[in-house]
Amino acid sequence: MKDGSRDPQKPMFYGRRRNHKLRSGRQVLINDLLPKIRIAEIEDTSQIDLSASFGRTAKDVRLEIGFGAGEHLSGDALANPDIDFIGCEPFINGVAALLADVERLELTNIRLFDDDARLLLERLPAACISKIYVLFPDPWPKLRHNRRRFINQETLSSLSRVAKNDAEFIFASDHMGYVSWALVEMQRHADWKWTAKGSSDWRQQPKDWVPTRYETKALGKGDAPAYLTFRRQNRETD
Ligand SMILES: C[S@@+](CC[C@H](N)C(=O)[O-])C[C@H]1O[C@@H](n2cnc3c(N)ncnc32)[C@H](O)[C@@H]1O
Repeated sequence: MKDGSRDPQKPMFYGRRRNHKLRSGRQVLINDLLPKIRIAEIEDTSQIDLSASFGRTAKDVRLEIGFGAGEHLSGDALANPDIDFIGCEPFINGVAALLADVERLELTNIRLFDDDARLLLERLPAACISKIYVLFPDPWPKLRHNRRRFINQETLSSLSRVAKNDAEFIFASDHMGYVSWALVEMQRHADWKWTAKGSSDWRQQPKDWVPTRYETKALGKGDAPAYLTFRRQNRETD
């Protein structure tokens, strides 16, 4: 809201929106490049027109929620120029890091939403996304904070609405408490089915994987992350 108070209509966001002051080059990217590739104005509430935003209709659109500094997003976009990518991240220092990659790699297939993913999900058309990533989300390990976790029945319904039938949803984490939580929440939700047949399906990085910053940190400490792949079930109402 313009006066700095919280809009009671908006969901509560518990993460950080910035830390250190941006270097001047990064601030220029926020001022000049971000408005050009922002998928929608944050204050607007209308449905997003993906073809208009990207200037084309790609065969697939992928969504990464909480991309951090954007290593996975820019790597995936570079490797797949025919696919369009939506990245969502409210942490401005991370957005600036991703913008630096967009400029350096001359990526034209990324659009950004620099706020809470729950606001973006409300505004995307139904059945438009073929792959969703939630990678190393904040684990909120204290019991009293568990309900802040991004994965819950409400967000799973929002993700299901925007997902195409058979869309893939990849959740990765090195926090085994959150991995168990995500499995329970997913199994409670009728629209998502875990695809794993054996431990090699969730212990190993998916094919053509670009590691994220948090993943690299976890691997450096000797932790073994889990990579859970779910598939959106076809529903009679679709
Ligand atoms: C632990 S970091 C992981 C970043 C990155 N995925 C990685 O693996 O390096 C979690 C990120 O999720 C973002 N995040 C938290 N809640 C979010 C929300 N509701 N919508 C979008 N992003 C969110 C945070 O700002 C943070 O950058």
